[in-house]
Amino acid sequence: MEGLYIFKDSKCIDQIIGTSTLNLLAKKDNFEIMLYEFKADRPNSITPGNFKDLMEFYYIIEGSIVIGTEVESIRMQKGDYFYVQNIKETVPFRTVTDTKMLYITSQPVYNLLSAYTHDLKNLLEKSEAKDLYTYRHSNRVQDYSVRIADKLGLSGEINYTIALASLFHDVGKYFIPDEILNKPSKLSNDEFKYIKKHSTYSSELLQGKFSKDVATIVEQHHERLDGSGYPNKLKENEIRIEAKIIAVADSYDAMTSDRSYRSGMPPNQAIEELKSLIGKFYDKNVVLALEMILKDEGIL
Ligand SMILES: [Fe+2]
Ligand SMILES: [Fe+2]
Repeated sequence: MEGLYIFKDSKCIDQIIGTSTLNLLAKKDNFEIMLYEFKADRPNSITPGNFKDLMEFYYIIEGSIVIGTEVESIRMQKGDYFYVQNIKETVPFRTVTDTKMLYITSQPVYNLLSAYTHDLKNLLEKSEAKDLYTYRHSNRVQDYSVRIADKLGLSGEINYTIALASLFHDVGKYFIPDEILNKPSKLSNDEFKYIKKHSTYSSELLQGKFSKDVATIVEQHHERLDGSGYPNKLKENEIRIEAKIIAVADSYDAMTSDRSYRSGMPPNQAIEELKSLIGKFYDKNVVLALEMILKDEGIL
């Protein structure tokens, strides 16, 4: 979402060298109705989201656009509409004139598209670039977390909070020195103390930006059921279900990814390890939901 202006309560709350503005007009349950305004002659795209069954509907109120590639494209103008559901690839479009579109979604996406989110994504990219082995870790953790929440039948609103929290759970690693993040040998106690601050740093970056839940959940993503986690040594029911989900998705991804000092475990071994820690570190239903997802996908 390159270049996005966000207006909230008719006030511009943030601005990036931008080509479009997004304005939330109404919201009910999971539905959101937004006004999308684009400047003339700019490239844009509709990208696949990872919400299951997300339906996005666009109605052109003013202006015109060309959807598609150079080879195959279609021009649309005032009064035309289109919608997308479960797309697998990015669909490019270009505005011909200044364009206004009514944008309706079946899942709440407004915050995910907002300018602050855009800044956080930049920060996330920078922190992931510090450590090659965590490349795209956050996206994978988001993907698993959303699917686990879905499997557990959690409501769309919770799933949406999880989507934000899981994506940004490690954004605070940006403040951890590279030497510590990339140290191939065992960390000293002091270095580990430093690493442990990242969940609090992440949470601080999210405070006041989204619902309070997002920051709370992020701060808890390294808490463990038996109280051996950090930063607050929370136990069992003191840990939010969303944080329990992210903990499992995060650990699974860490176990199966290669690191400078070891190669990743095969998925079945990682699941066995997670299962052996049910009740001690991880929530039973969450681990079993992940196992089911991996089975459905033929990974296990
Ligand atoms: Fe983390
Ligand atoms: Fe992580």
